[in-house]
Amino acid sequence: MITVGVFGVRGIVGQLMLKQLEASPHAQDYKVLGFGRQDKPQKVDIAILCTDETVSPQLAPELKNYAKFVIDMSSYYRQKDGVPLVIPEINANTITKDTWLIASPNCTVTGLVLALNPLKKHYTLEEVFSSSYQAISGGGKKLLEEFEKPNSLYRANCVPLIGSIKDNGFTSEELKGIYEAKKILGLPDLRVFSHTVRVPVMVSHGLTITLRAKEEFDMQTLPDILRSQKGVILDGKVYTNKEVEGRGEAFISRLRQDIEDKRVIHFWCVCDNLLKGAALNGRQIADYLFEEFFND
Ligand SMILES: NC(=O)c1ccc[n+]([C@@H]2O[C@H](COP(=O)([O-])OP(=O)(O)OC[C@H]3O[C@@H](n4cnc5c(N)ncnc54)[C@H](OP(=O)(O)O)[C@@H]3O)[C@@H](O)[C@H]2O)c1
Repeated sequence: MITVGVFGVRGIVGQLMLKQLEASPHAQDYKVLGFGRQDKPQKVDIAILCTDETVSPQLAPELKNYAKFVIDMSSYYRQKDGVPLVIPEINANTITKDTWLIASPNCTVTGLVLALNPLKKHYTLEEVFSSSYQAISGGGKKLLEEFEKPNSLYRANCVPLIGSIKDNGFTSEELKGIYEAKKILGLPDLRVFSHTVRVPVMVSHGLTITLRAKEEFDMQTLPDILRSQKGVILDGKVYTNKEVEGRGEAFISRLRQDIEDKRVIHFWCVCDNLLKGAALNGRQIADYLFEEFFND
């Protein structure tokens, strides 16, 4: 039995993390403790921070004294050298016995990298263009409250600004997508182009994706290559944001080769931002840590 502490337990991701830990194949091995803003930390084996990027950099170093591993759901540590940024199906092997802090990725990038990961073994990926259609719940409790206001900008509207605008004109959300995709895939030279848009759906982020490889795509073998990735569903149906709410996979549809350039494919990928984009992925990291480092 190990102790897992969920910090930020009253937030959207924190609440779902409790449910995910209950649903884990190792649930009987986890004693789960929840910590809110006012609670003092206690010794735990794994601490999961479901707090934002202003709180995590304060909590994580403090928790190093209380926990063997810290999993951070926020963006703060994702690009730091030496911090593995992990989707277990893709790169759990970046966690070593010396790792104490593991970052879980941005909820928009998850679908993109799950789709690209199996392709990189067969093709030289050169450029990927993505435009997101992101749910309100991706903005946490604050955005849900804002959305409830009758005159909210987010009601029946598309808002092409997620996070803050940086000096280079990109939003913080777009930059996360670009740099996190390169890091998770281990492809620093992949050109990633990103637009992010908030749309009035409650759960699941969708992405239109255009991918260019060095070689021409073989459309006969491509669906099976994509399906070979654990966590990807591609079954001929067209999936919308609402339909994948509560599901743990990334759903690919509308797969097609470009009309003029056989080295280019286009597709739609949609994924529950709160599950595989957050709580499920965080829990799967905890499951991996349990299996590798605690399960004698
Ligand atoms: N929502 C998503 O789709 C999603 C996806 C991937 C990653 N993430 C990341 O996951 C994290 C949580 O997101 P969220 O959507 O759940 O946000 P949220 O709903 O705003 O929840 C954040 C929680 O952190 C708590 N908190 C603040 N300071 C704390 C402290 N010192 N100690 C313990 N708890 C503290 C807050 O407490 P109060 O309740 O007292 O305010 C709140 O419950 C963020 O870093 C976010 O970027 C979110």
